[in-house]
Amino acid sequence: MVLYQIYPRSFADADGDGTGDLQGVIDRAGHLERLGVDGVWLSPIMRSPGVDHGYDVSDPRDVDPLFGDVGTLRRLVERLHASGMVLIMDLVPNHTSIEHAWFAAALAAGPGSPERARYIFRDGRGADGSAPPTNWPSVFGGPAWTRVTEPDGSAGQWYLHLFAPEQPDLNWSNGEVADDLERTLRFWLDLGVDGFRIDVAHGLAKPETLEDLPEGVEIAQLVVDERDARWDRPGVHDVHRRIRRVVDEYPGAATFGEVWVGPVERFARYVRPDELHFAFHFALTGAPFEAAAIRDAVESTLEASRIADSTPTWALSNHDVVREVTRYGNGAIGTARARAMLLVELALPGIAFVYNGAELGLPSDFRVPRDRLTDPTWERTGHAELGRDHCRVPLPWAGSAPPYGFTTAEDTWLPQPRGWGRLTAREQSVDPDSTLSLYREAIRIRHSWPGTTVPAVTWLDTFDGCLLFCREDGGVLCMINTSRHAVPVPDGDVVLASGPLDGTRLPPDTAVWLQ
Ligand code: NOJ
Repeated sequence: MVLYQIYPRSFADADGDGTGDLQGVIDRAGHLERLGVDGVWLSPIMRSPGVDHGYDVSDPRDVDPLFGDVGTLRRLVERLHASGMVLIMDLVPNHTSIEHAWFAAALAAGPGSPERARYIFRDGRGADGSAPPTNWPSVFGGPAWTRVTEPDGSAGQWYLHLFAPEQPDLNWSNGEVADDLERTLRFWLDLGVDGFRIDVAHGLAKPETLEDLPEGVEIAQLVVDERDARWDRPGVHDVHRRIRRVVDEYPGAATFGEVWVGPVERFARYVRPDELHFAFHFALTGAPFEAAAIRDAVESTLEASRIADSTPTWALSNHDVVREVTRYGNGAIGTARARAMLLVELALPGIAFVYNGAELGLPSDFRVPRDRLTDPTWERTGHAELGRDHCRVPLPWAGSAPPYGFTTAEDTWLPQPRGWGRLTAREQSVDPDSTLSLYREAIRIRHSWPGTTVPAVTWLDTFDGCLLFCREDGGVLCMINTSRHAVPVPDGDVVLASGPLDGTRLPPDTAVWLQ
């Protein structure tokens, strides 16, 4: 199965306001059909003030007017289903927006109230409570606590937000929170969606007693230090069991958890038979273009699947990371390597994700003018980190200059760079050597394989800096060359190559499928 991630602001704009919307997705559904994907993961479209572009939800059972309305979503579901594609919605159960009715009620009701008990409010430390309750950092920079003003005007309690202050964390030990999520799940499933990608699936449960993180805790996201009490607490698994019971009432529906938990034994717990159906293991997303690192990433993801007897998932990028073309080296080398890695990803058993724009070989755009940056990380880190706008620039569809057919407006919500004319979907559609053509062909071939989900891969001996593997359920032999020298291609028929071969040799930064 291949799923295509749509970042709705950036995919296609139908109403001419410069920001992508659901009608834009309906209008461009033909692109998805020609790509051959089996469905779409739609980043959040629920009602939201948009501080974190939809990951700050003010009403989880409505569509934000920026994107359309519930009727537009229903039409999108029908459009995709008509072509045999599924729609996976993004769900944000860890936190709400500060504009959610619950948060307003929590502020108004004051300390000790049932309204506050839906979130994580604590008194501050020190005689006057002016120090945050713990030393926890927020993922977007700065402390994970913000102090509120009480209804009587006095300086008051603090609330927890693992992300921006506009994203207060919910209290998952409060039954009301789970009941409300259940209503949300049923609302969208009844409308016809096929499942959910669950945001921050490893962060929902917080410890009973909140304590300082010990000195020296590694706070990098991928690693998730076991001493970091913000993530991966035992109680999180009860939440996933509750979600699973509801989703399983809808045949065929599935959940995909965002699980930034490195150690495979801990990661595997999330995909036990009564928890998430699938989870993102980000090892491949984070791996550099280097044979040993790629193999380690593949093996750790497969190992996690073996432990839990679950289906692995793979992604080279998403809306939070540097696009693969740029990560692997930018320019022609970055493009060649991203194409090669696509053949690695699509040769692996399980579910592969494609982030919108990857099929066009888009780079991350670090030239977005500073005064147009929108990611909260930029302000929260005092401009030390640019944030993630670089990978969210609207897609180029046609034409030689911005807005490249993305919108009828003159400007787009994030400006597009000049020079993307050769990357447009229209240009690439007619070029058999384009990245878009490679994606279409690779996905078409992948669909011709038996496609069982047995996560078994056999590694074969090959040259230094290269990898050679085959899936035990059939399919192809895949070889990638991350070294600096061309190497002989093994015997077999070349089914697909990510770039030109050098006679019978596989050049650097190239991969090949053989049969
Ligand atoms: C993970 C999402 O992928 C990211 O975009 C978002 O900012 C955080 N969760 C907070 O919801």
